[in-house]
Amino acid sequence: MEKLKAGIIGLGLLGNQYLEFFRTRKDVEVVGVCDVRRSIAETAAAKYHIDAYSEVNELLKAHRPDLVVVATPDHLHLAPTLAAVEAGTPAIILEKPLATTLDEANMIFEKVEQSGAKLLINYANRAMPYDLATYYVLKNRLIGQPIYAESRLDDNISVPTRLWGERSREFAAGSSPAHFLLSHVVDLMHWYFAPAHVVDVFAISQERVLGFTPDLFDAFLIFDNGLKVRVKAEWIKHMDQIVEYYTCITGEQGSIIYNKRPGFGVQESWRANLSAPPPDSVLQEHHQHLGERGIDTRLAYHYRPVTTAYDASTVRASLEHIGPDQATGMMLVGPMLDAITEDTLTPSSWRDCGPLPTHWDGLRQVQVVQAILDSAYRNAPVAVKQ
Ligand SMILES: NC(=O)c1ccc[n+]([C@@H]2O[C@H](COP(=O)([O-])OP(=O)(O)OC[C@H]3O[C@@H](n4cnc5c(N)ncnc54)[C@H](O)[C@@H]3O)[C@@H](O)[C@H]2O)c1
Repeated sequence: MEKLKAGIIGLGLLGNQYLEFFRTRKDVEVVGVCDVRRSIAETAAAKYHIDAYSEVNELLKAHRPDLVVVATPDHLHLAPTLAAVEAGTPAIILEKPLATTLDEANMIFEKVEQSGAKLLINYANRAMPYDLATYYVLKNRLIGQPIYAESRLDDNISVPTRLWGERSREFAAGSSPAHFLLSHVVDLMHWYFAPAHVVDVFAISQERVLGFTPDLFDAFLIFDNGLKVRVKAEWIKHMDQIVEYYTCITGEQGSIIYNKRPGFGVQESWRANLSAPPPDSVLQEHHQHLGERGIDTRLAYHYRPVTTAYDASTVRASLEHIGPDQATGMMLVGPMLDAITEDTLTPSSWRDCGPLPTHWDGLRQVQVVQAILDSAYRNAPVAVKQ
C-alpha cells in the first residue's frame, strides 16, 4: 500500500497527538512538521527524522503532501488551511472549529468547494463510545421522537488561564467557551438530530472573571422540527477535573442520560432509559449491535411493581454502561484516514454513522456559534444565518 505523505501544521497539544497517532498507522508517513515556534518543530523533527519548517508554504512546496493536518489555535485556522488548499493538497484534516468568524468560515468553505479538496473536521466526540451509543439509540428511535436535550460542557478555569502556558491568555482571547467548547456540542447535536437543524437561538453570556474572553455562554437552540436544546459552556469553573461534560436527551418514549466527564463525585456512566422497549429479542439484537461497534453496554430490565409515585415504573428497560468510555481525541482520525484512502465519506471503518464531518458541517457549526454570540450580545433571539 502506498502511504499518504502527511504534513502537520501547528505542533502544540493536538499537533503532537496527530504525530504520535500517525506513527501507529501503516497508511501514513509524516514527511514534515511546521510551527511558527521553529524550535518546537525542530525538536519533533529531530526525534522522528523528518523535516521542520516555520512557514507553511515551505513545507507545502518541499513535499506536496497528500494530507495536511491543521492544528493551529482556533482563531488561526484560516491562513494555513487556505495555503494548503491553494497548493493543491487533496486532503486536509482541520481541528475544530472550522473558524471563529463567519467570514473566515465562508472563505474556507468557498475555497474548498472550488478546489474539490476533501476537508474533514475533527469533531472528535462523534467517534467516542458514549456519543456513538447515543447516535445509535436515536437513529433506531428507541426513545421515540426527541423533544428536548440539555448538554453542558465546562472547562476548569485552569484551561483559559494555564493550559497553553504563557500563551494561554492569547489562545483564549482568540477563542471563547463558545468556539472552543460549544463547537463540539453544536456539531454533536446536528449529527444526532439530522436532518433537523438549528434555526433560532437565544443565548446569554457572562463576562466578569476572565476579562480577556467571555466567561460562559448558555443558549437555547430551536431546531426546524420544533426540537429544543439547551447548550452551555463555561471557562471559569472551579472543580477537581479539567472538563465536566453532561448530556440528557428526552424523547417521547425515554431518555438518554450520560455523565461523560464528571467534574467531581459522579461516576462516568451512560444510560438509555426506555419507557416503551421493543420485544426482548429485538432489544438483545440492539445490545449485540452496540457490542459489534465496540460499545460495551449491558441490558437492564426494570420489572418493579408500582409502589410509590417515585419509583422507576416509567422505565421498563435500559441499555447502560457504567465506567469510563476510554475516549481519545484521535478516535475520528482513523476513519478520516480511511475516508481519504477509500475516497468516500463513509469508509469501511465508519458504517451506519452518516458521512464524516466536512466543511459543510463546519460552516453550519460556525453559523450556530455565531448566532449564540450575536444573541448573547444583543440580549435577544437571533435567527441563524444560513
Ligand atoms: N487542547 C485541547 O484540549 C483540544 C482538544 C481538541 C481540539 N483542540 C483544537 O486543536 C487546535 C489546536 O489546539 P492546541 O491545544 O493544540 O493548541 P496549541 O497552542 O497547543 O498548538 C497550536 C500550535 O500552532 C502553532 N501555530 C500558530 N500559528 C501557526 C501557523 N500559522 N503556522 C504554523 N504553526 C502555527 C503554535 O505555535 C502552536 O504550537 C485548536 O483549534 C483547538 O480547538 C484542542
